[in-house]
Amino acid sequence: MRTLVSLLILFSFTVLLPTQTLAAKKSYVVYLGAHSPNTREEVAVNSHHEILGSILKSKEKARDAIFYSYTKEINGFAANMDENEANELSKHPSVVSVFPNKALKLHTTHTWEFLGLQKFYSGEIPDSSLWKKARFGEDVIIGTLDTGVWPESQSFREDDMGPIPSRWKGVCDNGIDKTFNCNKKLIGARYFNKGFKEAGDTSANITDTPRDTEGHGSHTLSTAAGAFVPGASYYGYANGTAKGGSSRARVATYKICWPSDVGGCMDADILAAFDAAIHDGVDVISMSVGGPPLDYYQDSIAIGSFHAVKKGIIVACSGGNDGPLLGTVSNVAPWIFTVGASTLDRYYPSYLVYNGKFVKGMTFSKGLPRPRPYPMINSVNAKAKNATEHAANLCMVNSLDPEKVKGKIVVCLRGKIERMLKGFVVQKAGGAGMIIANDEHYADDIEGDAHFIPAINIGYSDGLELYSYLNSSKSSKGYILCGRTKFGKRPSPTIAPFSSLGPNVINQEILKPDITAPGVNVLAAFSEVANPSDLDYDTRRTPFVFLSGTSMSCPHIGGIVGLLKTLNPSWSPAMIKSAIMTTATTLDNTMEPIKDAFNETATPFSYGAGHVKTKALVDPGLVYDITPKDYLNFLCSLGYNKTMMGIFSGEFSCPSKTIKAEDLNYPSISIASLNGTVTVTRTLKNVGPPSKYNATVFAPKGVSVTVEPAELEFEEFGKEQQFQVTMEANEAEPVKGFTFGSLKWSDGIHHVRSPLVVYI
Ligand SMILES: *[C@@H]1O[C@H](CO)[C@@H](O)[C@H](O)[C@H]1NC(C)=O
Ligand SMILES: *[C@@H]1O[C@H](CO)[C@@H](O)[C@H](O)[C@H]1NC(C)=O
Ligand SMILES: *[C@@H]1O[C@H](CO)[C@@H](O)[C@H](O)[C@H]1NC(C)=O
Ligand SMILES: *[C@@H]1O[C@H](CO)[C@@H](O)[C@H](O)[C@H]1NC(C)=O
Ligand SMILES: *[C@@H]1O[C@H](CO)[C@@H](O)[C@H](O)[C@H]1NC(C)=O
Ligand SMILES: *[C@@H]1O[C@H](CO)[C@@H](O)[C@H](O)[C@H]1NC(C)=O
Ligand SMILES: *[C@@H]1O[C@H](CO)[C@@H](O)[C@H](O)[C@H]1NC(C)=O
Ligand SMILES: *[C@@H]1O[C@H](CO)[C@@H](O)[C@H](O)[C@H]1NC(C)=O
Repeated sequence: MRTLVSLLILFSFTVLLPTQTLAAKKSYVVYLGAHSPNTREEVAVNSHHEILGSILKSKEKARDAIFYSYTKEINGFAANMDENEANELSKHPSVVSVFPNKALKLHTTHTWEFLGLQKFYSGEIPDSSLWKKARFGEDVIIGTLDTGVWPESQSFREDDMGPIPSRWKGVCDNGIDKTFNCNKKLIGARYFNKGFKEAGDTSANITDTPRDTEGHGSHTLSTAAGAFVPGASYYGYANGTAKGGSSRARVATYKICWPSDVGGCMDADILAAFDAAIHDGVDVISMSVGGPPLDYYQDSIAIGSFHAVKKGIIVACSGGNDGPLLGTVSNVAPWIFTVGASTLDRYYPSYLVYNGKFVKGMTFSKGLPRPRPYPMINSVNAKAKNATEHAANLCMVNSLDPEKVKGKIVVCLRGKIERMLKGFVVQKAGGAGMIIANDEHYADDIEGDAHFIPAINIGYSDGLELYSYLNSSKSSKGYILCGRTKFGKRPSPTIAPFSSLGPNVINQEILKPDITAPGVNVLAAFSEVANPSDLDYDTRRTPFVFLSGTSMSCPHIGGIVGLLKTLNPSWSPAMIKSAIMTTATTLDNTMEPIKDAFNETATPFSYGAGHVKTKALVDPGLVYDITPKDYLNFLCSLGYNKTMMGIFSGEFSCPSKTIKAEDLNYPSISIASLNGTVTVTRTLKNVGPPSKYNATVFAPKGVSVTVEPAELEFEEFGKEQQFQVTMEANEAEPVKGFTFGSLKWSDGIHHVRSPLVVYI
């Protein structure tokens, strides 16, 4: 698997340091009030030149300084200036605010069976499957903001797709890469790198192309909406047909993240991509990128996605890979669909066999040519003359003596350098295989990798036993039995250890993440200039690869959103999100509550409403809807002043009597602090047949909950009904801290469940 550690190496970027030369010019994003209706592009651009020109005392200079004008949905620009100029500009009457341009980071064969869209073994797709009902998402256009795409990947074949929908306004901007072609499946491509270039990272290799050189963007886009590709596997592991969630949807790529030593995805580019994607006509945006949680008015993803949601576009984002610490989840704005990551029931048993023992390990490498015992050697005993024992122990570069290693399985201690690099060192020295033994620090956290040679990672106590056997035995022998692909691991899903957790540190009144989906060892398309180890000298190429992260779980939700949007084209983003949240499950495949990576019962801080489940999505019964105006009222409830509100909507003014933040009609309920009694209001909309629903409450420990009314009748489709939930600390059962429960509305057929989170 692309493990947590290497995933973080590959996809975590430090903040770019802008170059400190030339009077310390830096790049800034400047927000202006909303565009007046039907503003022509030249007029908008000219107004940007005038505004900045008034500060720089020259329209010419302003034209040179501005590298983006946002002219479609978002009104603003990105430009280079020094700090004084930025200060002056922020006082200009047309300017709402000015922010430094900062860097954010990037955060399947079987996954859809696991989610119930097709049958296991036979692969049959039943008529009741959301896939068939929603015609594999064929009416929607799904866009990702990511590292671009590998357009030749089989996942983006056009097959028998019909003409490109006439509503599509996007383009295939291949820049300098004339070999990059779109088709009837991949209908749009754009790249945004001016913000990245202006940040002055000289290590970066930026080419003007939407082509994916890293693989991340091809992986996420094919997970959301890739075509069926039979015969996909990762070096034989997880073999089968690779599939996207909305496999008949059209796709578009917006390349915003660029490879470099420090790397990253810049605010100015992100806003430009949102502005374009909204205008082009995408229906769904899946975005596996984020930074630390920020106030919404300072967060380019929150701002860009708000403009998208205002236009009816659903935005799914990864919650981040900063778990398992509490309060780490990012992309927490209530209009974003925030996704955590969990495991599949697919596993790959692999063993080290020696001295009559089978030791369980992990690998995604090829097996030994013949399953017969090979001589094994402790790498310390294969030390090169000029190397230190320490270096040999860790199998560092040039630390091994080929004479001693030749034809043997070398046992290396984990740590210091990449695991796959150790395999490369052993291979170069002529070794037949490798065992990586964990030290005390890594304990039993074992990782599978596509090693260059047959190799396996084993746990700490198993490693100690092996070392002591090597010490005491004169002719130690053993072999590696590489894994086959197996299914039905119990329990699953479990929460991935890296998945970022709630509470939402920006707004405890909004529970985040919203949902969890598969994000560990997900097989999907890759870039053919990237390699599976991310080591420079790795010349291997693979059209499909395992990656892990919330980056991988997010496009699963993006794909399912595409199906629901095809089924219900008129539904608002909030209705679609509500349906997916209220039908999610909190049970694993043993019918026990979902566990975290440490075998403890997981909470809504890991999974929000639960693990996505597709069965009830065709007919969810009731939904909680939210309008753009509701979100603006919610922002008013946070005490946003006119400046901050102006970033989201120029024309909106907060009502004199604001709502409570907890009263946003969210499909989950979170009380930031229960002192006395709190009452929240929610409204349900019927999207099913006329029906009568009853409320059932599983009260959080230490809290009494009453629902009023506890019975709701929906006489017709579309009918809305309001209810109130009152929560009070239960004096008989005093509790301190976070406590969790749920509220379920049911008519016997539909079950509409919301998590309750209360802090006392
Ligand atoms: C920069 O990237 C291009 C295309 O991705 C590649 O052909 C070229 O070799 C790279 N240059 C360097 C210096 O890495
Ligand atoms: C994967 O490969 C194995 C061994 O070649 C084969 O038995 C199995 O049917 C394959 N599975 C799929 C889903 O193609
Ligand atoms: C040891 O010597 C070899 C051959 O001279 C050289 O390639 C290697 O870099 C040296 N190793 C170390 C750790 O200095
Ligand atoms: C193996 O032997 C080495 C030195 O000969 C010693 O340092 C080490 O502790 C031994 N390991 C075990 C697990 O016995
Ligand atoms: C997890 O905990 C359950 C009890 O809650 C126990 O039965 C099971 O053996 C544990 N699993 C592991 C892998 O420790
Ligand atoms: C709104 O609040 C921000 C941040 O506290 C502040 O910078 C800005 O000046 C305020 N604007 C108004 C109109 O009060
Ligand atoms: C709870 O409310 C009471 C009365 O409104 C107030 O005196 C007290 O400080 C509050 N406690 C907390 C922890 O907020
Ligand atoms: C709802 O509650 C009423 C009154 O308690 C009961 O008669 C009815 O069967 C319940 N309906 C469902 C679907 O549970």
